[in-house]
Amino acid sequence: MSFPTHRPRRLRQSAAMRRLVAEVRIHPADLILPVFVREGAAEPIPLQSMPGVVQHTQDSLRSAAAEAAELGLGGIMLFGVPETRDAIGSASLDPAGVLNAGIRAVKQEVGDSLVVMSDLCLDEFTDHGHCGVLTADGVVDNDATLEIYGRMGVAQAEAGADMVGPSGMMDGQVAVIRQALDDAGHQDTAILAYAAKYSSAFYGPFREAVDSQLTGDRKTYQMDPANRREAMLEVSLDLDEGADLVMVKPAMSYLDILRDVAEVSDVPVSAYQISGEYAMIEAAAANGWINRDQAIIESVLSIRRAGADSVLTYWASELARWIKEGRL
Ligand code: PBG
Repeated sequence: MSFPTHRPRRLRQSAAMRRLVAEVRIHPADLILPVFVREGAAEPIPLQSMPGVVQHTQDSLRSAAAEAAELGLGGIMLFGVPETRDAIGSASLDPAGVLNAGIRAVKQEVGDSLVVMSDLCLDEFTDHGHCGVLTADGVVDNDATLEIYGRMGVAQAEAGADMVGPSGMMDGQVAVIRQALDDAGHQDTAILAYAAKYSSAFYGPFREAVDSQLTGDRKTYQMDPANRREAMLEVSLDLDEGADLVMVKPAMSYLDILRDVAEVSDVPVSAYQISGEYAMIEAAAANGWINRDQAIIESVLSIRRAGADSVLTYWASELARWIKEGRL
């Protein structure tokens, strides 16, 4: 035969045909919007390294959450930027602290129309910027940190979080937080475990977003970008400890890891398209070097295709708006 039986181009000939055979789609319910709320802010403060993203006031946070619910997003993930920090991140436990107050405001605003999630980590709250407390030698003290994480989980659940997201990569964090939540009567508060979280240069813009005080790096607790097998260990530990969802982070440089995790996980898998991924596309687009909208869609599709059930992305609301307008 001079021609192959299959002519794959048949299924690419029109937008309708391509839409019919698309293997993955982007749906608002699969998107989670990360948001920053800043203590004492009178106006939303734009972030230079993340054009279009702001540090919210409590009021503008409420509006963003209401809009996210209106757009049908799956969830919202809150990060707090406190005014005062100390060695042990005390403000994270204060029911009136910026993050807990933000959770309470958002929950009040959206009720059960959207899953309210909160970052459970100390880096925004410590004056040294590490994700845990330090020993006298300046090393991040795993077990002393766990004790605070447990209390932080309870404080967030009490503020109204439906799901907490431990992102500090301490060993045993899921087990300790689960136990603390259960002991306090919060059996229904879910845990989204940042299971395979890599030590990445692509977190750069996030550090501006939370006014991070970090001077060193997180290599003693976040994963080495060279390692694939180790991600399986991290995921299986978190699953054993009771994670309700597992996450891979960052997303785009770790799509192989995401595929591996999606293949073994018996709980839903999430991926976090982080600040640097956002900034790279925005910066290239601002220079006219790539088509912004197409690049955003392609990047999120690739994360879904690699196996993520849900995607945390700073473009969540914008994407949902495009979907609503029939542009996607
Ligand atoms: C830690 C945390 C970080 C991010 C989410 N949670 C920063 C880090 O690990 O240094 C990064 C998110 C992003 O870059 O968009 N609390």
